[in-house]
Amino acid sequence: MRSYLFVPGDSEKKLAKGLASQADVLLIDLEDSVAQHNKQEARTIAANFVKHHQSQQNRPQLFVRINALDTGLTEADLAEIIPANPDGIMVPKTLSGHCITQIDAKVSAQEALAGVQQGSIQLMAVATETASAIFNLGTYGNASPRLCALTWGAEDLSADLGAETNKDETGALTSPYKLVRELCLFGAVAAGVQPIDAIHANFRDLDGLRAEATAAKRDGYIGKMAIHPAQIPIINEVFTPSFEAIDKAKRILAAFQEAGNAGVVGLDGEMLDRPHLRRAQTLLSRAKSAGISID
Ligand code: COA
Ligand code: MG
Repeated sequence: MRSYLFVPGDSEKKLAKGLASQADVLLIDLEDSVAQHNKQEARTIAANFVKHHQSQQNRPQLFVRINALDTGLTEADLAEIIPANPDGIMVPKTLSGHCITQIDAKVSAQEALAGVQQGSIQLMAVATETASAIFNLGTYGNASPRLCALTWGAEDLSADLGAETNKDETGALTSPYKLVRELCLFGAVAAGVQPIDAIHANFRDLDGLRAEATAAKRDGYIGKMAIHPAQIPIINEVFTPSFEAIDKAKRILAAFQEAGNAGVVGLDGEMLDRPHLRRAQTLLSRAKSAGISID
């Protein structure tokens, strides 16, 4: 999935806008964008929205971001949301893979109670929101077969660190958050799940968003979260493999096939070995999952 749009769960107007936004996934939020006194209203609105749109054709995937395990709100969130049968649950402020294992058990129990197909609801973790969580980014493999993606964020982490800011004078992330971005990528790939880049909070700065998304894609991220519908077309464009890249990948596969799957081949004056083949295969599978026909 390329684009994930946060929509405050207590805003019916924004939910409707989100649906029309071309985002691959809506992250319907019950957490930080919802005031404490609106938590119950947000659950009801979010559950009704998911129920209502769940069987619609050509809709984005519907994920709900619940409140973190230590808030005392998680059980009530899941009890209301799971019967609506969302595609996934986003779990914020995870401390390690163990939090995902705990949420998996809670989701399984609610699926059983609601008669929802066991194991059908996926999980996505925001895995970098406290200092101690950073030391556990390598613990998400085998946490749960539901886990589909790992992502990171600089806002809660900078609050936990007591940092003055997470950006330097030029608007670039300062080094603690760059480190976390790289560790999240390693953690996700090591766990065999999708690495998804953090939001670009300045939603009027579309050039900055494009630059950040392009750098994330270059490094191996396969999608990016957003907070405003205007960010979605740029994210979709950047994370959709170009026709040139697809063509090159197909030619690399063909060159290896023609050479009887040799260890190394030459193409356009360039030496290509097994890592190039793996990269080409990965690119083609990403193109396929972005809905591009590669035959
Ligand atoms: N999802 C759906 N619709 C959204 C949206 C979002 N995330 N963000 C903005 N819109 C809508 C607005 O409601 C507005 O609709 P209108 O034209 O019918 O009035 C339109 O898009 C243009 O919005 P704009 O005026 O540019 O921004 P804003 O000042 O209304 O909203 C935010 C700014 C930051 C409050 C808003 O983008 C938002 O709520 N983002 C999500 C925040 C969130 O979920 N945070 C948690 C994760 S970090
Ligand atoms: Mg947060």
